[in-house]
Amino acid sequence: NQERSFIMVKPEGVQRALVGEVIKRFEQRGFKLVGLKVLVPSKDIANVHYGEHEGKPFFPKLVGHITSGAVVAMVWEGKDIVKTGRAMIGATNPLASAPGTIRGDFAIDLGRNIVHGSDSVDSAQREIALWFSPDELAEYDPTV
Ligand code: CMP
Repeated sequence: NQERSFIMVKPEGVQRALVGEVIKRFEQRGFKLVGLKVLVPSKDIANVHYGEHEGKPFFPKLVGHITSGAVVAMVWEGKDIVKTGRAMIGATNPLASAPGTIRGDFAIDLGRNIVHGSDSVDSAQREIALWFSPDELAEYDPTV
């Protein structure tokens, strides 16, 4: 399945200089980078992005955190990227993430788990449309 996923290095990942590490893993696995930008997310975009968690006790902290600094927002493309990307990132709680995954190698805190990845093809489409405009996504053949 050729798919796209929204992958984002969170503020703690940028602060800890893990941007290259995250990109390297997706690149080396064979996925294709089609969108990339650095930004400090607004409250508006954070509220929509994390909309499914609205009302939960950790929601204000979650939005406060993601808007606290620069993030690196990316769109990656390739076979089963949504599921495979989640496997590469590891379980939401880094203490449950297997070694070898991004979180399993670099994180121990649930609220500071380094990277976000879309959890389904539907979420990916919603998140890509939220964070990127169509002209920010490159169409190209990586083998040429
Ligand atoms: P992610 O899967 O990218 O999207 C939702 C985020 O909410 C999740 O990563 C965690 O960083 C965060 N999160 C989930 N549960 C909690 C919690 N109980 N307390 C704080 N943060 C949480």
